[in-house]
Amino acid sequence: MAYYFRLGNIPPKRHTQFRQPDGSLFKEELVSSKGFSGIYSNLYHIHNPNNVLAIGKPSPYNWEPAKEHGLQQTHLKTAGVSTTGKDYLSARKMLMMNNDVMMGICSPEERKMDYYFKNADGDELIYVHDGEGVMFSQFGKLEVRKGDYIVIPRTTIYRFEWKEEGPLRLLVIESHGPIETVKRYRNELGQLLEHSPYCERDIRPPGELVTESEKGEYLVQIKKGGMLHPYTYGHSPLDIVGWDGFLYPYALSIHDFEPITGRIHQPPPVHQTFQAWGFVICSFVPRLFDYHPLAIPAPYNHSNIDSDEVLYYAEGEFMSRKGIDRGSFTIHMGGLPHGPHPGTVEKSIGAKETHEYAVMLDTFKPLFVTTQGLDFVDLDYPMSWKE
Ligand SMILES: [Fe+2]
Repeated sequence: MAYYFRLGNIPPKRHTQFRQPDGSLFKEELVSSKGFSGIYSNLYHIHNPNNVLAIGKPSPYNWEPAKEHGLQQTHLKTAGVSTTGKDYLSARKMLMMNNDVMMGICSPEERKMDYYFKNADGDELIYVHDGEGVMFSQFGKLEVRKGDYIVIPRTTIYRFEWKEEGPLRLLVIESHGPIETVKRYRNELGQLLEHSPYCERDIRPPGELVTESEKGEYLVQIKKGGMLHPYTYGHSPLDIVGWDGFLYPYALSIHDFEPITGRIHQPPPVHQTFQAWGFVICSFVPRLFDYHPLAIPAPYNHSNIDSDEVLYYAEGEFMSRKGIDRGSFTIHMGGLPHGPHPGTVEKSIGAKETHEYAVMLDTFKPLFVTTQGLDFVDLDYPMSWKE
């Protein structure tokens, strides 16, 4: 959900005859959400989008919650991980989950995908921690780079091509509900308001349409019901000559998020960047610290009575935590207070600014570490506040 956008050629009136040079009709496809009541786009295909040649055997593509991990402050150390698998899908490792959201990492060995992916289970939010590349989808070519959030509406058919040089590290979030801009930052017609930390100019839709008319065999791995369904189509999925609407993938850089600061410590909602069903996403970015003469820049102890809170540490020194690395996740569960490590509060006094970057996920239902996530647990973390 961003704003109205169009690329390529579309007929002046929807649902009317729109013909190809050979006289045949382009095939119109309405991609709509919430039945016909949510945002939507109209796509115009060269070929029939149902031109299926073969359907392969589905295979499980899901994660299990490790409920035996129990109630404890948790630190997942993923800093040392270089690659997490061969290709984009096998490298996606979800480390925590509930019924609303899954979050994990992805560092594939192969930088180019020789198949397309379509997630029919949920919207995706991919944070590019390290890497630079291009996302090719039916909506066009989207250039992405370090610091970008990429919002991918469910059922978008896409593939990535990442540059071979340098590290590649993605934070991957799959959401059962739509991932949207924050409602309180929008006016009644959907425009982002003056006090929003980012506006429409910061939202980057696909820049250029890529239209492939070729026939052939094209594999699309479709995720639905926690299974991967290999579909072979008789033409390239990028056979779109034009589209328009509100539903499309886009990028928003964390570097374009303008922090809101105050005289005393500001609570996490000022960092909110996205909303979805059952969780929010916040961005912690470089900012000036609080300017009350007696201000304490470090956060206070805090009890989440009805949410679990995950911080992914992207860049910089986190003044309130010890032993946290770039690429660490902390999960502070509802039911336990959490706060700065001993010594860090006094140390923070007088600090003028921070250069930290972090992505926060706050869930409203309990979040569980997955069985794969257990491999990364720092066993000393729950006792790390001991004085
Ligand atoms: Fe917190």
